[in-house]
This record gives sequence, structure tokens and C-alpha cells, in this order.
Amino acid sequence: MNKYWYKNAIIYSLDVETFRDSNGDGTGDFKGLKNALPYLSSLGVTCLWLLPIFETPNRDNGYDVKDYYKIDPRLGDLGHFAQLIDAAQEEGIRVIIDLAVNHTSTEHFWFQESRKSKDSKYRDYYIWVDEKPKDAEKNMMAEDGEDSSSWKYDRTAKAYYFHSFYAHQPDLNISNPQVQEEIFRIMHFWLKLGVSGFRIDAAPHMFKERGRMDFDGDPHQIFRNFREFVETQKPDAILLAEVDLDPNQYNKFLGNEDQMHMLFNFYVNNFMYLAFAREEATPLARALQRMPEEITEKEQLATFLRNHDELNLDKLSRNEREEVFKAFAPEENMRIFGRGIRRRLASILGNDRRKMELAHSLLFTLPGTPVLRYGEEIGMGEDLSMEGRSSVRTVMQWANDKNGGFSTAPQDKLIRNVISGGDYGYEKVNVSDQLRDPDSFLTWISKAIDYRKEFPEYGWGRNQIIDTGNPHVLGHFTKSAKGMGVAFHNFSGKEITVELEMKEEDLKDLVDVFGNIRYEKFDPEKPKVRLTPYGYRWMHKKHNFL
Ligand code: GLC
Repeated sequence: MNKYWYKNAIIYSLDVETFRDSNGDGTGDFKGLKNALPYLSSLGVTCLWLLPIFETPNRDNGYDVKDYYKIDPRLGDLGHFAQLIDAAQEEGIRVIIDLAVNHTSTEHFWFQESRKSKDSKYRDYYIWVDEKPKDAEKNMMAEDGEDSSSWKYDRTAKAYYFHSFYAHQPDLNISNPQVQEEIFRIMHFWLKLGVSGFRIDAAPHMFKERGRMDFDGDPHQIFRNFREFVETQKPDAILLAEVDLDPNQYNKFLGNEDQMHMLFNFYVNNFMYLAFAREEATPLARALQRMPEEITEKEQLATFLRNHDELNLDKLSRNEREEVFKAFAPEENMRIFGRGIRRRLASILGNDRRKMELAHSLLFTLPGTPVLRYGEEIGMGEDLSMEGRSSVRTVMQWANDKNGGFSTAPQDKLIRNVISGGDYGYEKVNVSDQLRDPDSFLTWISKAIDYRKEFPEYGWGRNQIIDTGNPHVLGHFTKSAKGMGVAFHNFSGKEITVELEMKEEDLKDLVDVFGNIRYEKFDPEKPKVRLTPYGYRWMHKKHNFL
């Protein structure tokens, strides 16, 4: 068993309900996903991150949980889940699941009991106050002009409860030891069913003190206890947290090998888009230089281009965000919550193959473990006619076939739209056609994943920026005990040649291994790197003693 598998995994995130429907009812299910495992394995995926799979009223894509011990019946049952885990294991794929325990659905039994009486044992599972605080903070889901308070009056309870997100998602009172105990039990249960860990939803929100919450000592001790518990149950299981904060806060969640194993790198994600918008590498280089020193050999960042939510640009300044909006979401309907873009990557980048390769080449070489989102590998687009974030949650496009091969159900029975017609419709963008085309984006991405696996240095060691002397070109390298991975990316539409100022010992034995074209052989004596418009090159050297 490789306990540190996550340092170099290829993580693929998907929502079971929109991935593949096996029984023709219009909703994706575990059986459908199981049938798709050989495809995922041939793509090079080593770990699936499943968006919430629990019983839910489904008013927030499953992030509103009604019962943590039950599978959403539309997806299958526990038996199907167990079969999926086994089949995935056979394909060498691990499964981690989303755990949203910052809040539950209002339909959860705990909340129903909690609101009934002040004396209920569940009362303090949630955060109640009799008077609405005057300076009530805004909830995360408010559009401008909407009722944005995070306190909602409940007539049954005759009190206000706190909700960080939608009003139907009351926050749990994590400071309550009984709630912590419940979370342990939930984790225990799913670890026994074979998952390799959890994506911890909305992690920083869990520690905010609100209302009558009273943490006994350092609230982060709770995460330390989670880690210890998880590792005791299953030594190779991980916690991957959604921590959407400035990098100077990362070390509050990881760094001492005692809280999270991984954090999503939202900061680098934001500055990558600023770099794309400006066609300049500098914003990204600066963001990379802000990565914490403390990340140890046993911890890791998770790099991603898009996720299932809006492309949340709140790490950028107002002006920077406006620049990105102008470049990538020129119409109001493409924006959401005043901070994000509700489009997919391919359409953001104008379906320009050069830019899509550049973006993914960064995904596979920047420090961290790459996380792909279903459909990115074929360049799926969005459906802006769908409300809110559903625009980027359309069904997977498998083939130029009825409903894009997702389901045999009548189209009006589909859980979400299938994109049809135009540049991103299933007729043009689908797995089956791209699998058969040696020049497709899917074929390219499988190859890029192969290279990433062959040169795991990109996932290890400390990343350093190379001074390329050109604001359009990012150069970076990562050294580990096994070797060194170097990469260059040209963010501009111009051909550029840079001269490298690197130590002679670093340049020695450096060889080209992958790139957008076959470049002339790199000569360490005359260390020049040529890059075509939006071009990229990966170089590598093995340490001699191996
Ligand atoms: C996270 C999820 C998002 C969800 C929210 C509330 O941010 O990624 O989809 O709406 O938490 O659970």
C-alpha cells in the first residue's frame, strides 16, 4: 500500500446523477458509473471524487443532506455502492466522497427535532439565537438585492438559526462534542464501506464562531481529531478540504501533518485566470511564490482549473476580477453571485485548442495533485439557459447519439439538459468520437496524463520559479530526491524565445520530454527555450544516483 498515493494521484470529480444512466430513468446512477470505469482507467484516472451521494431533497445539488447513512435512491442503493467500490479497486481507482457537514438540509431529522423544543437533545446541534444579530453577515448564496442575511427565523422554534449557505441549509454547531461524535460515526461508516477519504465541504465555515457557539480551546483541534480518527481507521485515507482562503491561511489547515492531507488551491486557480486574461505569466508566478513553505512531504495542494461551482474569483481584487469578467464573461448572464463565472473552461478559452492544452499543461505541472472535472477531457461547454450553477452541470456527453449517449430516457425526463447543437453540442463534442481520433483533445489529455505519471517529480518537492526574463513566459521547476521536472508556458499569442539563467548543474542533463510541438533539441550549453504561441514544454532530468 502506498500511503502517499494522493501526492501524485489523478483525481476526477463527477456527479453520479449526471455521469451515466444505466436504467433509462434519466438520472445517472452507480451502475452507469461502474460501467464507465474502464474508460476512466484508460484516461489515467486514479481517484474519483464523488459529489454528494446521500439522501437529499436536492435543492443544492446534494450538498443539502437529509440522511448521511442513506444513498440517494435515484443513484442506487448501498449494494450498488459496494459494487462500485470493488469494481473501481479492480481498475486501480480509489474513491473519495464529498462530506458536507458544515450544515445539513432543514429536512434532516436532527434539524426537525432541534426546532421542536429548547429541551431537545438536538437543540444545540444547530446554532440558534432569540434575537437576530444587528450586524448579521451575508450568506454565501445571496445575489445582490436578495435577502442576504445568514440568520433565518424559524416559526416552529421561535428563534433564528444560522446558515452560511442557502436558508434550507442550517449550519451545524461543530463546537458541540455530540455533533463531532456524529461526524466520526459517519466517517467510520463510509470508511468501512471502502472509501479512501473525504472531500471536506466548506471547511473554514465550520470554525466560525457564531451565536452561542463556544469552542473549547483551539477549534482546529477538531480537524486534528478527524485526521487521527481517519488514519486510525484506514491509514491511507485522506481528507481533502475546500479551503477557499488566502495562502497565508493555508497553514491553519495543513502544515504539521495533523489536520488536512490536502487543500484545494483556489488562490493559484484565480491567478491562473488573470494570467490567461492578460496573456501574461506574471500574476501566476507571483501567486506561486506565495505558496506556503510549510507543506511537508505528506501533504499536498490540489490544483484545478474548474470545479462544479461558479469559477469563484474572490481572491482577485475588484479591478482584477473585472478584467477577468471582461475577458471571459462579457455578458451579465455568464456571471453569478457578483464573484464568479458560470461557464466551463473550454468556452471560457474560446474553444481554442492551443489555450486548452496550455491550461491543462499547467494543471499537470504546477505544484500539487491535478483534479479534473468530468467533461473537461473532451472540452464540454455550458448551457446558460439553465439556472445558476446548473449551467456547468449538464450531463456527460458520451456519443453522438440520443441524449449524447447519457441516457435512453425521453429527453424531457433527463435530470439536467444535454447540450445539443453548436460548437459544444454532443453531436460535435463526445467521448466516443474523440476516442477514435488520434488528434482529439481527449487523446491529447490521456497522453499528458501518461507523462505526468511518468514524471512524478511535478507532484513532489518544492516548486521554484525560473526567471525567464519575459513577462509572458512562466518557467518553473520542482526538484525531488528522484529528479527534477521543469516546465515552460507561453501565455501569449506570440512566438517567444527565452534565455535561461539557471545554475549549470541544474541545466546539465536536462531533456525535453513533452510539448505542444516537437521542439529542436535543448542544448544545456546554449540554454535557449523557444515556444510557439501558447506553447509549452516539459523538461526533465533523472538524478544520476538512481
Ligand atoms: C460548497 C460546494 C457548493 C455548495 C456549498 C454549500 O461550496 O462546493 O456546491 O453549494 O458548499 O454546501
